[in-house]
Amino acid sequence: MRVIILESAADIAVQAGNIFVELLKEKPDAVLGLATGATPVPTYKYLIDCYNKGKVSFKDAVSFNLDEYIGLNKEHPNSYYFFMMDMLFSHVNMRKDMIHVPNGVAEDIEKECRDYDALIEQFGGIYVQLLGIGTNGHIGFNEPSDAFSEGTYVTDLTKSTIESNKIYFPNGDMPTKAITMGIGSIMKAKKVILIATGHSKAKAIKAMIEGEVTPSCPASILQKHSDAVIFLDRDAASLLA
Ligand code: GLP
Repeated sequence: MRVIILESAADIAVQAGNIFVELLKEKPDAVLGLATGATPVPTYKYLIDCYNKGKVSFKDAVSFNLDEYIGLNKEHPNSYYFFMMDMLFSHVNMRKDMIHVPNGVAEDIEKECRDYDALIEQFGGIYVQLLGIGTNGHIGFNEPSDAFSEGTYVTDLTKSTIESNKIYFPNGDMPTKAITMGIGSIMKAKKVILIATGHSKAKAIKAMIEGEVTPSCPASILQKHSDAVIFLDRDAASLLA
């Protein structure tokens, strides 16, 4: 794990964003692994800015998002598909049919999980996977548990995740299940970038970097990834030794 502590969320956006810009310059048809949440928003804004300035093109790129809420369709304003369109894809020249987000309303959800993994493989695997982190150490929607997950699956959200994310559901109708790429899928990415900002992430960051590798802090598995880069602001890094 390479840990890089920067002054601000804006600095993280530039550094994390540039990894994608460089990748797409070298390999225009790269397969990108993308994440939702508030943390990557500045990175997406930076990428949109680079696109507007002609520094990057998504014309031949392929993307796979980590997760989706069960029960929310693409048009639902709280769905992660909607989020990605809103925050990134509708502002750049990404082909719509190359955008992949797990389908949270699939009739056969088990098949959806298997098909999602198969499709990632079909495109040759993920080059760079962007990750945020939950306050409980989750990545994607891989919640703390007693075993690391493998491929894409359906999971129950923990109380703490529901607590953190329910602000986005003012009507109190937050789903309690999600479909997520598994820890095994995430670990297959050639490179992983995890970004975290703010005090609320400091405990999870400490456990991820300095704790033991344990499924009770799912992000700790990244200690075993051969190319994981962690970008933190000072607040997120504040509990590190
Ligand atoms: C959600 C997503 C995660 C994300 C986490 C943190 O639970 N499934 O992928 O990392 O939220 O979000 P935020 O960046 O808003 O703190």
